[in-house]
Amino acid sequence: MNQINKFPEMCLDAIEIAKNANIPSYQFDKMIICGMGGSAVGGDLLKDLLRDELPLSVEVSKEYHLPAYADEKTLVFAISYSGNTEETLSQFVDAVERKCKIICLSSGGKLREWADRLKIPTIVLPAGFQPRAALPYLFLPLVVCLQKMQLINLEEELKEAIEILGEIRLKDYNELADDLKDSMPVIYSDFGAVARRFKNQLNENSKTQAKADVFPELNHNEMVGYENKKMNRNDSVVILRSGDESQEIKTRIEFTEGLLKDSVKSVNEIWAKGKGRLARMFSLVYIGDYISYKLADLNGVNADEAKSIDMLKKELKEKINLVEKLEKRIGSQSQ
Ligand code: F6R
Repeated sequence: MNQINKFPEMCLDAIEIAKNANIPSYQFDKMIICGMGGSAVGGDLLKDLLRDELPLSVEVSKEYHLPAYADEKTLVFAISYSGNTEETLSQFVDAVERKCKIICLSSGGKLREWADRLKIPTIVLPAGFQPRAALPYLFLPLVVCLQKMQLINLEEELKEAIEILGEIRLKDYNELADDLKDSMPVIYSDFGAVARRFKNQLNENSKTQAKADVFPELNHNEMVGYENKKMNRNDSVVILRSGDESQEIKTRIEFTEGLLKDSVKSVNEIWAKGKGRLARMFSLVYIGDYISYKLADLNGVNADEAKSIDMLKKELKEKINLVEKLEKRIGSQSQ
């Protein structure tokens, strides 16, 4: 809970770190952002943020391998907060072998070690956070890098976003956290990445199951599941309002709320703050993060742990040790 209060300062720090980093002005015609879990969220947010702005294909790859089209004209951001996540390391090695343009974001681990060895630029992040709590460091440097390459100019939007975060009164959302207790949170929005981030934070911080889906797609499948009014009584639906929904999306939201209200425990809305897309996305992320910590308290669980993730990573290392095999592939690149 302590760290959430530092979120606005972390944003300022993240921007500063990225501005001071030595990033080449690469030429490329498509972009792939590789990362898993908390380290992938920055990519998801960036993709949603720039959808109407950047005339380039942007893919967020959460797999063991890069897609077949990745080549020397592809910019790859390899992001792993710990620097030791095997899927990300494996994609990093693919990117090296395919001569992609690479920028790494990491606090250390193998990713930083290998990038240093191969002289690949790395934005070094401060250590000591849970990856999911380090989101400002895993997202804002992506914006700064693209600004440095003069592909976007979001300077005013960045400023607004930080100001808005400072103005949000997080306590106003305590009641909503109470409402989510002992229910199944269901998060809908036309900001798909923000809805998914909230769901993931509820999973990892609050140790609860949760669902997320996105408008307008959810109106073509998910919504129909609510026609059966005998079910779903325990769902607490939260609609994240992006604040600039088109008339079509507004009509979809109203229709969906009308359909759901008699078959679920509650339907609530959280409205984004600010004018720019970045402020509106980040204000919702901040509020969602806060609610997830608050719910962790109410659930009596430790928000900072994610024991099953740690156990699985350990088991994979013991049984397969992919990193050792990747190390050999990297070794042959650096000779
Ligand atoms: C832990 C968390 C996880 C990790 C994921 C990848 O706080 O959020 O989802 O982010 O297991 O690990 P890293 O981020 O170190 O590459």
